[in-house]
Amino acid sequence: MLAMVVSRHGDRFLTILLPLQITFDRLHAELMAHMAKEDAVLFPTIVAAAFHTGIPGGASALERILGPVQVMEAEHESAGTALATMRQLTRGYAPPEDACATFRGLYHGLAELEREMHLHVYLENHILFPRALRVHGVDPR
Ligand SMILES: [Fe+2]
Repeated sequence: MLAMVVSRHGDRFLTILLPLQITFDRLHAELMAHMAKEDAVLFPTIVAAAFHTGIPGGASALERILGPVQVMEAEHESAGTALATMRQLTRGYAPPEDACATFRGLYHGLAELEREMHLHVYLENHILFPRALRVHGVDPR
C-alpha cells in the first residue's frame, strides 16, 4: 500500500513519502528478522530453561537467555526510533485534507503498526524478559 501511495502521490509529497518509505522498508526488514529470532531462538530457550529441559550443554540457561534478551531490547530501541521518525514525518499520521482513501488507509495502518509495536515492546521488556531472568535469580530492574 505504501508503494502504491508513493507511486501516485510521491511527486506532491516527496519530502514525506520517500523518507517514510525508506524508514518503513528498513523497519520492516528489521522486524521480520527480529520476530524470526524470537520465535526460533529466544522463546523456545526461555520455555526450556523455565522447565529445565532441552537446554543443550555448555552455557548456563541464564547465559543463553541474557545475551539474546539484551539484543532484543536493543532492537526494540531501534524500532522505537524508526516509529518515532515515521510519526514525525506524517505529523502524527494526519493525512492531507484531500487525501484519497488509500492514503488514509496507509496512515491508519501505520498508526496501528505503531500501537502494536509499542504493546510488543511493553510485554517483552517489562513482563516477559524480567520474569524469564528472575526464574534464574536475576533481578533485571
Ligand atoms: Fe521483540
